[in-house]
Amino acid sequence: MKSLTSIRTLGRADLERLIDEADELRRSLDAGNRIARALNGLCMANLFFEPSTRTRLSFDLAAQRLGAHVLTFLPETSSATKGESLQDTALTVSSIGADILVVRHGEEGAPQAVAEWTGLPVVNAGDGAGEHPTQALLDALTLRRHFGRLDGLRMAIVGDITHSRVAGSLLYALPTVGVDVTLVGPERWLPADAPVTTSADLDVILDDVDVVYLLRVQKERGGVIDDEYLARFAFDGGRASRLRDDAVVMHPGPINRGIEISHEVAESPRSLITEQVRNGVPTRMAVLRALAVSR
Ligand code: NCD
Repeated sequence: MKSLTSIRTLGRADLERLIDEADELRRSLDAGNRIARALNGLCMANLFFEPSTRTRLSFDLAAQRLGAHVLTFLPETSSATKGESLQDTALTVSSIGADILVVRHGEEGAPQAVAEWTGLPVVNAGDGAGEHPTQALLDALTLRRHFGRLDGLRMAIVGDITHSRVAGSLLYALPTVGVDVTLVGPERWLPADAPVTTSADLDVILDDVDVVYLLRVQKERGGVIDDEYLARFAFDGGRASRLRDDAVVMHPGPINRGIEISHEVAESPRSLITEQVRNGVPTRMAVLRALAVSR
């Protein structure tokens, strides 16, 4: 794997190998075992042009745990404010000595463009409403650790589908590893060309799924929350009580409590949200290691 800019380039065996490796790393981290410094002496640079808490910090820690140096670029205090283009910024960071770039940007395709301009391995950490491949991997790991399998699980991804890069990667990755995915949301946010089933009625599918995956409404990409949305899709204790006993609730974060998910559901034993965050570091370690070995 030279870069990871889209999850769609990975087949089932590639996805399963990365999930296996992430699972092994998670076990090693939990046990406090020594982990080989596969990135020793290399430099990973984070180029985040959009806000982030868990993705950026977990890439930082993942790289450090593998022995890499980490450079963090902050657009608001960088020469981007003086008009430097993405291309010139990426080439500058490359010349400084970065070996691997992690890119988050508001424009779809920006990470792929950076990979082409620099020739460096690039991880897409979110490109506009495009994709977020490592989120899909860490979610698959979280599900597999919880249920002991992925094959045959039924999952509803709920909310602002068309503006969500998380959905953009999940809806390809999860069916590839055997999960039956339904996209659920208001008609205006359901893609016409979705490769999976879609539904505009959350309530009819509640007792039929193993996983409800909630999305934040992407206000920065034009998503609007109105009373009708809240009435039909806000996931509260009432809706949670209609799930099967062993069904779980997931969310990539940041969560907006009281909007797409109630405080009660976020804190309930069904919630895997903390596990998702926890799995971010070993998943990103597995991806960085795969890129480092194929440099
Ligand atoms: C998401 C993102 O930035 O795409 N967050 C994340 O990386 N876990 C989801 C979101 O912002 O809603």
